[in-house]
Amino acid sequence: MSYTADSNRYDSMQYRRCGKSGLKLPAISLGLWHNFGDIDDFGKCRTIIQTAFDNGITHFDLANNYGPPPGGAEVTFGKIFKQDLKPYRDEMIVSSKAGYGMWPGPYGEWGSKKYLVSSLDQSLKRMGLDYVDIFYHHRPDPETPLEETMGALDLIVRQGKALYIGISNYSASETQKAIEVLNSLGTPLLIHQAKYSMLVRWVEEGLLEVLDKNGVGCIAFSSLAQGILTNKYLNGIPADSRAASARGNGALESNVLTQEIIQKVRRLNELAQQRGQDMAQMALAWILKDQRMTSLIIGASKAEQVIDSLQSLKNYQFTNDELNTIESILK
Ligand SMILES: NC(=O)c1ccc[n+]([C@@H]2O[C@H](COP(=O)([O-])OP(=O)(O)OC[C@H]3O[C@@H](n4cnc5c(N)ncnc54)[C@H](OP(=O)(O)O)[C@@H]3O)[C@@H](O)[C@H]2O)c1
Repeated sequence: MSYTADSNRYDSMQYRRCGKSGLKLPAISLGLWHNFGDIDDFGKCRTIIQTAFDNGITHFDLANNYGPPPGGAEVTFGKIFKQDLKPYRDEMIVSSKAGYGMWPGPYGEWGSKKYLVSSLDQSLKRMGLDYVDIFYHHRPDPETPLEETMGALDLIVRQGKALYIGISNYSASETQKAIEVLNSLGTPLLIHQAKYSMLVRWVEEGLLEVLDKNGVGCIAFSSLAQGILTNKYLNGIPADSRAASARGNGALESNVLTQEIIQKVRRLNELAQQRGQDMAQMALAWILKDQRMTSLIIGASKAEQVIDSLQSLKNYQFTNDELNTIESILK
């Protein structure tokens, strides 16, 4: 069946300016880390992406190593792009990244110019794109000089292979240095991609301040803690869940689901219900309450989860009492 995007797709999504740049991102973006590999049902992948785009999710986040196998998610995305989304390329923000192990030998990971330029060339081929909108360095490299890594990102932009650049998993002080090097090169840092959820709070200890001060955007990932901050694990581990899937590559494993965590989620869930939200919606709303957050990237194994998560946009205001209750549950 051929695809035509919903004509109402821009009616309810909210778009936030990314730092001081000219680019706006949807408050909710879709990531393809898991659920888009070779082992996943292609029809389901297609429906998830169509559902996202039909609801104003213009931003799709990938990386060289998403799969399985590594590269698999970019291949899946490339097929869906070719079949369904090509006419809409100018309405889309596609990102990819390099930094983790991708191919054997000394040039297949970290942050050398050799690796970053080659990896992006491979990603563009897999996705069938001429350029990505955002290209990220996926993790800091303790050995390569920062000037070389940032110089490679600047080069990639000048070559027209990426429009903007980002970094991910850099600490607050590493980010400040990267911003300074990039400013000296004339290619400002657009965005930082960071793990941020009610359960993982490190960005509050300096990173958000550095980004805000320098006019750089922030996009959160794993804001549902890979599904922990939803209702799904309150009564055991469902067979079709990520925790049961043994997918590897950093996917949630069942031993993380301790009684202590589940007990906290149960109490959070009661508060969510009082707010008229489900647990996932409240967990996402809690990130969106901070206007310094440009966007958050959801993962989804079903299109219904995308629809459910989008409802968080209806209420991301919290009273002081609600915030205090959340802190007392989390501590
Ligand atoms: N830069 C980095 O280093 C980095 C690292 C990790 C992720 N990311 C990016 O962030 C994206 C999202 O990461 P993530 O997958 O960890 O995000 P997440 O949103 O925390 O977890 C996604 C999982 O939560 C469950 N879920 C989602 N919506 C739900 C809902 N409404 N109700 C119930 N369950 C729901 C699904 O689990 P089931 O599969 O069990 O149904 C889904 O697969 C990735 O795809 C990637 O683009 C970046």
